[in-house]
Amino acid sequence: MKISRARRHAYSILLRIERDRAYSSEVLAANSDGLAKKDRALSHKLSLGVLRKQMLLDHVVSLYSRKPANKIDIEILIVLRIALYQIHFLDRIPDFSAINEAVEMTRHIRKKSAAGFVNAVLRKASKWNGDIEAASDVERISLESSHPLWLVKRWCSQFGIDRAASICRSNNKEPNSAFRLTSAFDALNETAKNVIKKRIEGDPRIEKSKTVDGAFVAARIEDWLRDLSEKGLVYFQDEASQEVAGIVAKTSKGSVLDLCAAPGSKATLIARGFADAGFVVAGEYHLHRAKALKQNALVQQARVFPVCLDGTRPLPFNVGTFDTILVDAPCSGTGTIRRNPEIRYRVSEAVLNELHTKQLRLLFNASKLLNDRGVLIYSTCSLESIENEDVIEEFLQMQASFEVFDPGFGRSAGTELGTLRTFPDLNDTDGFFVSSLRLRG
Ligand SMILES: C[S@@+](CC[C@H](N)C(=O)[O-])C[C@H]1O[C@@H](n2cnc3c(N)ncnc32)[C@H](O)[C@@H]1O
Repeated sequence: MKISRARRHAYSILLRIERDRAYSSEVLAANSDGLAKKDRALSHKLSLGVLRKQMLLDHVVSLYSRKPANKIDIEILIVLRIALYQIHFLDRIPDFSAINEAVEMTRHIRKKSAAGFVNAVLRKASKWNGDIEAASDVERISLESSHPLWLVKRWCSQFGIDRAASICRSNNKEPNSAFRLTSAFDALNETAKNVIKKRIEGDPRIEKSKTVDGAFVAARIEDWLRDLSEKGLVYFQDEASQEVAGIVAKTSKGSVLDLCAAPGSKATLIARGFADAGFVVAGEYHLHRAKALKQNALVQQARVFPVCLDGTRPLPFNVGTFDTILVDAPCSGTGTIRRNPEIRYRVSEAVLNELHTKQLRLLFNASKLLNDRGVLIYSTCSLESIENEDVIEEFLQMQASFEVFDPGFGRSAGTELGTLRTFPDLNDTDGFFVSSLRLRG
């Protein structure tokens, strides 16, 4: 039996995510070029579907293999997960064909001796009736939605059990694809701009964002839109991320430091707002990410100046160089689980604590560069208060000369401390946190 390209591709993507701790959004975008459109669609559906149901699939594997899923070779476990996902969550694929293909795949990856095991587990597990035994409501939410119990408990205590369940459900939905125009678009002649505008505005599957100026929302990415993105004329960026960049642009008179800037989504949008009248210096710790940022700015023709730096250490700029500093801090990314479902399995309480310390250090360090009337904006794409409100509260205890203010957020989805918050379940965007700070007058 021949194994389809889509399934082989999904297998190699899932293995990379597991072994190299790669992010699904990045591996899928970078490794799907050679595939036919139909294969690409199925491979993405399988890879993301398996990641979104991983805990539940492993639970079923454990039930029918009589050994914990984490004691099974990762290559075999991935084959089992892909087959079980097709059997229980996709309609079009008959059970026998998913099982036969999984057995064939086991041979293909040189694990011939496990073929009998795979066959036996899948035949039994295909009879699973969907029942889940859970000791509590919270455990049921955790298992049904494949979110680690500790994380669901954390969201229950932050937002209440109903919201926690609602966030988990949203995290497993296919996110929309928001995008915007770029500086490269702005540089086109009027005729070329009108052709693109008409195409976007005339497409019934694309809407203007209801909350963010200049943002569009597409139900799915058509080839012509992908093509415009490859030419640097449009850029895919979540509405909430665009909103943060808009806030920075609004508060600045034209000189911005984006301290943690790669891949440059916000920096390139802020620079677009300035045209030739301002500049954005884009700091980044990792050289390879700084290079990717530089390339991104080049393609978009954005006036962004990348600098490789460590934002936790003394910075190579004079006090007062920038009127606005954005600290879009490295974070757990729990607000972006819709796009990178694997994040939920990687984050831990220890990681959150480490991030908190780093975030506070970045913010404190950046605050030393600010001039008297400057604005310091702190943001994350995390839902965790330890990375958000707690960082701001601790910062204000250390730096009593600073205060939080509302720069005119335009909407409020949770305005504790005068901050802006967005959520995947309430706003259908990534979950962002933004707080604006300035020196007391
Ligand atoms: C949340 S991402 C920034 C996203 C970016 N602002 C955008 O909109 O595209 C955080 C970035 O901070 C970088 N980073 C991590 N530690 C850093 C440090 N000590 N100094 C500067 N950047 C750092 C990470 O490599 C990552 O690229």
